[in-house]
Amino acid sequence: MSKPIYIINGPNLNLLGTREPEIYGSQTLTDIEDMCREAARTHGFKIEFSQSNIEGELVDKIQEAGEKGAAIIINPAAFTHTSIALYDAIKAVDVHCIEVHLSQPAARESFRRRSFVSEASQGTISGFGVKSYLLGLQAAIDLLKA
Ligand code: DQA
Repeated sequence: MSKPIYIINGPNLNLLGTREPEIYGSQTLTDIEDMCREAARTHGFKIEFSQSNIEGELVDKIQEAGEKGAAIIINPAAFTHTSIALYDAIKAVDVHCIEVHLSQPAARESFRRRSFVSEASQGTISGFGVKSYLLGLQAAIDLLKA
């Protein structure tokens, strides 16, 4: 059995469905998990899906993915724009890492324009709502099958 693809979610994403639906849509994080699990399954992959509001727990998950995972899809949420700890954690592991966002941060407030996580990731998919996760997953699967 191949290693799982880790899908790691940052702060406030547990509130999807009710959180600013005009920006983030009406689907919940559980809906996203179900969609990703099904998409991965059709390609013969398993996912390990998690969410935390705590920066250090996200660092722990990235480290765990480095040991036990095949690839990382990460929506770091607000830590995207602040976290050198996440940047360092991604740099420290030897697995593909793809950053995803539901919204398009570059088209929003100026403080969202910088992503420390982009600077450590292989690629970024943003602005497509829940489809950003599916596109990120597809990119990871293509990299793993290549
Ligand atoms: C987000 C974008 C971030 O700027 C924001 O802080 C989030 C969600 C997104 O998925 O669009 O919490 O990562």
